[in-house]
Amino acid sequence: MDLAPAPNGESSLKNPVVEVEAVDMASAEVEESLATENTVAIEAEGSQSEYETDSDDSDWDDQSLFEDALQVIRDDQLRDGVVPGACTLDEAIAFRNRLHEIGKAAFVEETIARDTVTAKKLCTAFGIMPPGFLEGAPDQAYHPLLAIAISREFSRRPKLPQYNSIDDAVKLLQQSKNIVVLTGAGISTSLGIPDFRSKDTGLYSQLEHLGLSDPQEVFDIHVFREDPSVFFSIAKDILPTENKYSPTHGFIRLLQDKGKLLTNYTQNIDNIEANAGVVSEKIVQCHGSFATATCVKCQHKVQGDDIFGDIKKGVVPQCLSCQERIAQDALKPQGMKRKRSTNGTHRGRKSDGEDSSEDEDYEIPTPGVMKPDITFFGEDLPDEFGRRLLHHDRDLVDLVIVIGTSLKVAPVAEVPGILPRQVPQIYISRTPVSHTSFDIDLLGDCDVVVSELCRRAGWEFKHEMIPPDEKVDITAVEGYESRHMFKVVGA
Ligand code: OAD
Repeated sequence: MDLAPAPNGESSLKNPVVEVEAVDMASAEVEESLATENTVAIEAEGSQSEYETDSDDSDWDDQSLFEDALQVIRDDQLRDGVVPGACTLDEAIAFRNRLHEIGKAAFVEETIARDTVTAKKLCTAFGIMPPGFLEGAPDQAYHPLLAIAISREFSRRPKLPQYNSIDDAVKLLQQSKNIVVLTGAGISTSLGIPDFRSKDTGLYSQLEHLGLSDPQEVFDIHVFREDPSVFFSIAKDILPTENKYSPTHGFIRLLQDKGKLLTNYTQNIDNIEANAGVVSEKIVQCHGSFATATCVKCQHKVQGDDIFGDIKKGVVPQCLSCQERIAQDALKPQGMKRKRSTNGTHRGRKSDGEDSSEDEDYEIPTPGVMKPDITFFGEDLPDEFGRRLLHHDRDLVDLVIVIGTSLKVAPVAEVPGILPRQVPQIYISRTPVSHTSFDIDLLGDCDVVVSELCRRAGWEFKHEMIPPDEKVDITAVEGYESRHMFKVVGA
């Protein structure tokens, strides 16, 4: 098959952390990405964001006009035939496969140029709803939209057709020697730590009281600089628990013990992998962790637990080193004192009638805020993330297992698309994703899924939260050959 090469990815992995969900974000990024050549497409459920993978040589240069108007059609809607005039799911899959087989130009030649299908209908094969404002327009009016759809699909990793069943998943586990495990908040929820985006239980659904325009602002570096108390008002809820770990953490440890774990890329900041005994050389903490903290003003570093007391009380922790320096300054004669000092944040607020020149002269020096070394939106990921992924793991990996993440935050969300396309990928989570194609989707509680996989692989796997005689029912999800639902039916 004439598969497109995986994008190099080096440049996009260096981008700061961003959410890839919002449609309005997409338009800005598309504008930018249309001017560049080597980026990656990401499309989230119900919305999308796009970075084009290869330059589009068509003259459809007004794509961004359409980006705002994009509405997604999900595969289950195609399967259920609820969108009038759309492809069936089978037709859609055939068009997608054909595109990956013969490439963009030949695909357009074979379809639109030969009038074998309308552009309007073809858009639906790639999950794009024809917008209402184009209703009644000639079919050419859909070409710019189709260009976006084709580019997006072409840059997406195609599913490998030979991997579908639970047996396939078990065999892959048994045979693979260098497994990349990519994890998210879902692997810690069974320990009582909320994930972020689950409806009703996720952290973001609990933050209405903070009055933020978007709950993710609690992890926004600009908001933190402006007002660190926003983050510290919720930080206690995501602080690492005592020395516990979930069965899924135990599973990652088991892969390590079997010599199969290449790297665990975790987006989690709870450091629980260490509780399970996963060694630090096998872990990349993509979004940092609470293990250390740094003063935003003087960069003084401390162990994370030095500030846990303050965090648990919901207090903004202050830098002791700054405090000492301020105390020493206070002892100096007046003329030698520092003129101005801030706490390292940029509050930008002045009370009424404040005189800025007086403010400069008399501002009271304050210590810097200690920020846990977790990666906020707008901050860069640790260098180790891109370095290890691109210069070490990409050549070695023989299986990818993604567990308990919605894959909605870049650049981590780009990992499955950056690894070689012939390497099989398994997704384990309660909720399927549609913006990335995995070979096998194992849906349900990840603790249940991994323990059942171990059982079927004949691996001894013990954890106090998994009853030794647990019985799990696995059902195929209708319309999907490679999607399976796991449910405990008894113990
Ligand atoms: P999300 O909350 O976005 O996704 C968690 C996923 O795990 C969802 O798909 C849930 O359905 C699933 N899930 C929850 N509990 C589960 C369980 N017991 N078994 C199986 N699946 C389960 O969390 P992340 O994808 O980790 O970044 O979020 C990524 C990043 O967004 C975080 O690292 C954080 C956040 O904003 C920053 O703060 C920079």
